Amino acid sequence: MKVVVISGGASPEHEVSLKSGAGIADAAASKGHTVTPLVIERDGSWAAGQQEAIRTLLDCDVAIPALHGEGGEDGVLQGFLETLKVPYVGSGVAASAVGMDKQLTKAILTAHGIPVTPGIVLRGADLTDAESAIQQLKAAGIGFPVFVKPNSGGSSIGVTRATDLPSLAEALSTAAALDTHVLVEQEIVGREIDLSVLEFPDGRVEVGPALEIHADPSQPFFNATAKYDSTATEFVVPAPMDADLANRLRSTAIEVFGTLGCAGLARLDFFVPADGPPLVNEINTFPGFTPASQFPRMWAAAGLSYADVVETLIETAVA
Ligand code: DAL
Ligand code: MG
Repeated sequence: MKVVVISGGASPEHEVSLKSGAGIADAAASKGHTVTPLVIERDGSWAAGQQEAIRTLLDCDVAIPALHGEGGEDGVLQGFLETLKVPYVGSGVAASAVGMDKQLTKAILTAHGIPVTPGIVLRGADLTDAESAIQQLKAAGIGFPVFVKPNSGGSSIGVTRATDLPSLAEALSTAAALDTHVLVEQEIVGREIDLSVLEFPDGRVEVGPALEIHADPSQPFFNATAKYDSTATEFVVPAPMDADLANRLRSTAIEVFGTLGCAGLARLDFFVPADGPPLVNEINTFPGFTPASQFPRMWAAAGLSYADVVETLIETAVA
């Protein structure tokens, strides 16, 4: 098939996407596809030029938006591909848009009775008023430490752990530089566990073995450094757990995938507190896809190689 792999993008996750795209392009080529890479520059322009990019897309059998974050994983590019009538890998416009918006994801999951990390969303004048933020947190039953994040961010870029008023003020300003809406969430003490959902060409939706994150202990949390620049971060897959927890995580992952109307693939990130149910922290509708990323690692543990996963994505997109 003629496969176009789109990577880069205007989001802060540009670099990660280039690595995801390179891995996917190699894998698709190894499966005998004719692969054309298309890069979106940091300013949002197509490296090949807009006319050439559109010609390439119109001529392909399937596009793989190997993009993370704003403009590529949030439904915008998916809408463009829909308009061009180009089949593409992964979730459609609505699920991509919701999945990129942590507040909206949590609102929908909460309405469906699926437990999520407790938090509040701040915007406007509240972003420069940490005192008011603390009052709102108190009213929501949330105390320090908290995590402060751009609502539609990724790769932990702009995320800070705050423990008091001054660190909250600084964290709000860091996140507000990247987003109009900022999420302040309760720190959850417990295990950090990812699940991978993959759709097969016959419509089956399967979940791979769970992966547990042991973030680099020199970092305050599983931040961008622990994710991409550290050799001390460990992924344990399959993560050890009893059958009850495994079933609960698995069924929640499938329920979230269906509730949000996802397609193709998704990675669900959970916190599992010592007591109480697993909490959905977020969904990634196009998760990190470098050969070292969690999503392909989980499938490798299920016996599906990186190239097999990419082939499944392609076959499912055109099925
Ligand atoms: N947003 C990053 C790429 C991830 O989900 O791994
Ligand atoms: Mg994410």
